[in-house]
Amino acid sequence: MSTIEIINRAVEGMRSLPINCALAAISGGVDSTTAAVLARKALGDRLRAVFIDTGFMRLNEPTHVKELLKGILPIEVVDAHEQFYGAVLGLSNAEEKRIRFREVFYTVLSGIAKKYGCDWLVQGTIAPDWIETKGGIKTQHNVLEQIGIDTSTKYGFKLIEPLRELYKDQVREVARALGVPSEIINRQPFPGPGLSIRAVGELTLEKLDIVRRSTEIVERRLGDMGLSQWFAAAWEYSTMPSDELSRNVVNLGDLHVNLFKVRATGVKGDSRSYGHVALVKGRLTKWDDAYELHRYLTIGDVTHVIYGLTEGDSGKYFVSIRAVLTEDFMTADVPRLDRNTLVNVAREIMSDNRIAAVGFDVTPKPPATIEYE
Ligand code: XMP
Repeated sequence: MSTIEIINRAVEGMRSLPINCALAAISGGVDSTTAAVLARKALGDRLRAVFIDTGFMRLNEPTHVKELLKGILPIEVVDAHEQFYGAVLGLSNAEEKRIRFREVFYTVLSGIAKKYGCDWLVQGTIAPDWIETKGGIKTQHNVLEQIGIDTSTKYGFKLIEPLRELYKDQVREVARALGVPSEIINRQPFPGPGLSIRAVGELTLEKLDIVRRSTEIVERRLGDMGLSQWFAAAWEYSTMPSDELSRNVVNLGDLHVNLFKVRATGVKGDSRSYGHVALVKGRLTKWDDAYELHRYLTIGDVTHVIYGLTEGDSGKYFVSIRAVLTEDFMTADVPRLDRNTLVNVAREIMSDNRIAAVGFDVTPKPPATIEYE
C-alpha cells in the first residue's frame, strides 16, 4: 500500500467512528505525533492532545516538545510526576517497573479523558510494540488490547491505533507526507517508560538524576553520527570477577571480565531473557576486537557486554553508553565508533563525582535488547 493510501485509509477509518471527543497522548516521538496528526486531520477540534510529564523525561523535554509542535498540533502538558514516582520508585525488576508504569499512565489518561468527556484514545502503537509484547520479549507500555486488556471497562475509552500495522520506517514516510517537522521525524525513539527503565535495577531519584545528566551528554556528543539510537543508562557499580568468562577472551588482549549484580534484558530465540551484564576491563590488542567481545561472552545468561572506558577512584554508579544502528528496531548493530571519541564522552560523564566508571555497550540485538529493561 502506498503512503497516501495508508493515510487515506486511516483518516477514513477514524471519520467512520462515532467520535465526539478523542484524546491523543503525545510523547514527542514520531509514532505518537504522527498518530495524533492523522487523528487531527480526521477529527479536527474533536481531538485533544496531551503530553504527560511522567517525571522520567529527559532534560527540559516537556517544554522542548511543546515548542517543537507549536504550529502543527497544540498540546497541553500535564504534570503527573508525583503519581508515577509514588508507584515506581523503589522497584527493581524490569517487568514490574513496566507494568506499574503502564497502570499509572492509563489511570492518568483516563482521568484526563473523563475531565474532557473523551471516550476514545488515539495512540501511536506500531507493529513491533505488540509483536514484542505478545512474544513475551517485554511489556511495551502502550500495548493493551492485543494482550486482552479491555480498555473501555478498565479506563473508560476505546482505542484508535492508526499505525498498529506499520514499522518505524513506514511511520516516518507517513509523517513526512503529513508535514510533521523533520526534527520530530528524525528524533530518536524514546521508550514510553522513559528514564525509569534506564535507571537500571532499583529505581531511585539519585540514579534517575545520573541517567538524565549522562543522557544529555551522550545525546549531544554523539548526535551527528547518523546513529539510530544513542543514550546512557546507569546502575550501581557492583561487580564480581568471572574467571570463566575471562578465559574466553585471553586471545583478545590483557582482559578481565566481571559480572554486574544488576540484570538486564536480552532476546534469545523468540523470547525475552533477563540475565547478567558483563564488564570487560583491560587492554585490547586491537580496538576493533571490542566489537567481537559479545561473541565470546554472551553465553549462559549474559545478555549485554560492556567494554570499560574510564574508571575513577570514587563514586557509586556505573554509566553505560549505548549506541545502535537499525532499520526496524527488531534487530540492531553496534556502530564502529572510535575509541578516542568514546573516551572523551566518558570523561565528560565522569565529571560527576557520583560516577565511578563508564563503559560502552558492544552487544548487538540479538542477543541484547537495545534498552536494558
Ligand atoms: P528493545 O529494548 O526492546 O527496544 O530492543 C526496541 C525499541 O523500542 C523502544 N522501546 C519502547 N518504546 N515504549 C515505547 O514506546 C516502551 O515501553 C519501549 N521499550 C523499548 C526502544 O527504545 C527501542 O527503540
